[in-house]
Amino acid sequence: MLLFGYMLVLIGFIFVNADEEFDIELLSEECDCRDWYGVCRKQGAEWLDENVWMYNCSSSNGANATFVGCMSPQKELISTKINKTVEGFWHACDEDDLRIRYEQEPRCLVESESYHVGSTFRLGTFQWICLDTGRWITGCFYKNETNNDVLLRIGETGYNGLIKHVCDRFVDYPGRVQYYAEVRDDVHVKHPTNKGVNQNFPPSKEELIQGKVNRWLHENSAAFVSNGEQFGARIRYLPASRSDWTKK
Ligand SMILES: *[C@@H]1O[C@H](CO)[C@@H](O)[C@H](O)[C@H]1NC(C)=O
Ligand SMILES: *[C@@H]1O[C@H](CO)[C@@H](O)[C@H](O)[C@H]1NC(C)=O
Ligand SMILES: *[C@@H]1O[C@H](CO)[C@@H](O)[C@H](O)[C@H]1NC(C)=O
Ligand SMILES: *[C@@H]1O[C@H](CO)[C@@H](O)[C@H](O)[C@H]1NC(C)=O
Repeated sequence: MLLFGYMLVLIGFIFVNADEEFDIELLSEECDCRDWYGVCRKQGAEWLDENVWMYNCSSSNGANATFVGCMSPQKELISTKINKTVEGFWHACDEDDLRIRYEQEPRCLVESESYHVGSTFRLGTFQWICLDTGRWITGCFYKNETNNDVLLRIGETGYNGLIKHVCDRFVDYPGRVQYYAEVRDDVHVKHPTNKGVNQNFPPSKEELIQGKVNRWLHENSAAFVSNGEQFGARIRYLPASRSDWTKK
């Protein structure tokens, strides 16, 4: 009697187990959509993978989710197969059987301002040019007698009365560009003979310059600043590409 009861419990246990497995089967048949990872998603859901790939689920039969488009780093949705210009820069979202791909026009992002590749712009004393990989200094600005900004190319010298303006590379650090102003050494200047501490200029001349001009600059900067880790293109391979690789 005890043994019989025990067997009943055992049989019941097997049935419960079978039932559970059956439930799991049922659940997967009710899967509305499969996402890129093969996970079930509910109809009407919308999601973003890797901060770039936007999908939604429109079906109810376990079909693959719909690829909607690419999300730009500026949080603009670019629909699939569209190349769209947003605030002057193009963004392209493409799709084929093997992959989806997002690409944005390369840019230099400096102090929350975006610059096109090939364009020059000014930041303080220096003029920069934007390239795919980063920005390079192309020259330095100084003010002439009439208070106009004048551009000096690297290696050039400009004159403003007794003051010489120089834009060049540091001899010891060719990776840095400097701009400085100093009293012309080809013009005779009378000055007192007290000794100062500034090693860049004959000390008394600095005083003289400060009396002469109200703007006094000596600035330097890395000649190149990388665009950093901001990406230009992203790619995601689709399941079909895997079978392609294993074919033959
Ligand atoms: C999914 O996206 C497609 C393409 O943008 C759209 O036509 C469809 O209405 C969307 N479906 C749902 C459920 O959001
Ligand atoms: C989903 O995509 C994969 C790979 O491209 C394909 O093999 C499969 O048949 C698709 N499933 C459905 C339900 O369309
Ligand atoms: C997008 O369009 C621009 C011009 O409108 C073009 O220069 C660029 O190459 C295009 N990008 C892609 C990935 O097709
Ligand atoms: C200063 O620069 C401006 C613009 O380049 C120029 O028109 C002007 O003639 C210059 N003034 C002097 C005194 O060189």
